[in-house]
Amino acid sequence: MLLGMGGTLSLGALTLRDARADLLATPPQMEGPFYPPRLPLDRDNDLTRVDGHEGPAYGVVTDVSGHIVDVRGAPLPGVLIEIWQVNGYGRYHHPDDRQDLPYDPSFQGYGRTVTREDGAYGFRTVRPVPYPGRAPHIHFALSRDGGKKFYTQMYVAGAPENASDFVLGQVRDPRARDALIVPLVPSPVADSTLTGRFDIVLGHTPVTEEP
Ligand SMILES: [Fe+2]
Repeated sequence: MLLGMGGTLSLGALTLRDARADLLATPPQMEGPFYPPRLPLDRDNDLTRVDGHEGPAYGVVTDVSGHIVDVRGAPLPGVLIEIWQVNGYGRYHHPDDRQDLPYDPSFQGYGRTVTREDGAYGFRTVRPVPYPGRAPHIHFALSRDGGKKFYTQMYVAGAPENASDFVLGQVRDPRARDALIVPLVPSPVADSTLTGRFDIVLGHTPVTEEP
């Protein structure tokens, strides 16, 4: 974790204070309408395989991992991370998604995991694809001990739809916006194609009010 450094030099008192600046908190994003109404029976952190179905899911298999830290850079263990997104065809596994696109029984649609002692997490999913009105994105919800959830969304670097996405566009600060946009690069492991790193900095209250 790269920490920004800040310092105050007071010549009068001949003191040098080297204060560690806070990290920029990851901006919240709306929950959106497609959180699953009922969680799938298979709800682990591999969305590309579903118990009882031939796999893998349709799409470009993509590993997304990172660390959850507070604004001082301290790792946050024990954070429940939930993700959900469209399948490889661009459809949510949600009854309110009425697009005429295939349902993929081998795609889990939703997954969850808990951060380790070092704040690390990881998911295997498919690369999110755009759907009408939205850039490719993955929804994230973070919570601890059943508390209120912090919602945000991860976007894919280089997606042309990012420029016009109305949810991403609500983040005005360019640095905060960049914190939500993740490059997906070729994966070093054989069973996935792409990999990306999405670190999340939770604000002073580790899991904040809903936006
Ligand atoms: Fe969405």
